[in-house]
Amino acid sequence: MTDRATLSDSPVTPAQTAELLRGRRTVDRFRTDTVPDKTLIHEAIEVARWAPNHHVTEPWRFALLGPAAQARIVELNTALVTASKGADVGEAKRERWAKMPGWLAVTCQSQEDPVTAREDYAACACAIQNLTLYLHSAGVASKWVSGAVTRESAFMEAIGADPDAEYCVGLIWYGYPLRRPKSQRKGLSEIMRERD
Ligand SMILES: Cc1cc2nc3c(=O)[nH]c(=O)nc-3n(C[C@H](O)[C@H](O)[C@H](O)COP(=O)(O)O)c2cc1C
Repeated sequence: MTDRATLSDSPVTPAQTAELLRGRRTVDRFRTDTVPDKTLIHEAIEVARWAPNHHVTEPWRFALLGPAAQARIVELNTALVTASKGADVGEAKRERWAKMPGWLAVTCQSQEDPVTAREDYAACACAIQNLTLYLHSAGVASKWVSGAVTRESAFMEAIGADPDAEYCVGLIWYGYPLRRPKSQRKGLSEIMRERD
């Protein structure tokens, strides 16, 4: 008789997986005195690309952003927020964004075929989840940002991406958390159907 356990090559138990998945929470306040090592981020990108991906199009591109690119994005976002919400709100954003320790942008290569485009976006989202879970397992928290600034051509230029050939799926801030907020979810009965 085949033992189900021998067919699984999972190195972790379901309980460990559940704990990891539930424990990853979006964090927006990070320690500013230390930034995670670049090697860890490279490892996170290495595992991110093992996400499921229909037709294995590998549509994702990862841009690790240094101080100059970060500063450009902070300025761009400050200008956008100032124009829409006023100088005080713009300055508050500048101050908050300038404190984010680690910056990574994930883009998706554009596709004309709408089905492929949708599937590629989904694959990129899976890749980001892989990345953030890997970081979380190493004690590094993150926040996925998809605000208006990420849709600007100047943003794409700042991250070294071609706005005619790709679009931003997420700007990911990462670092060691100052606090880990709680997050709520609906009960299973509210989100689940079972049909005979
Ligand atoms: C596609 C996507 C875009 C997001 N964009 C933003 C964003 O622009 N600003 C933000 O505060 N959070 C953003 N988030 C994070 C969500 O707000 C966060 O996941 C949600 O509040 C649930 O919290 P949790 O991740 O701790 O469960 C985004 C998440 C996803 C999946």
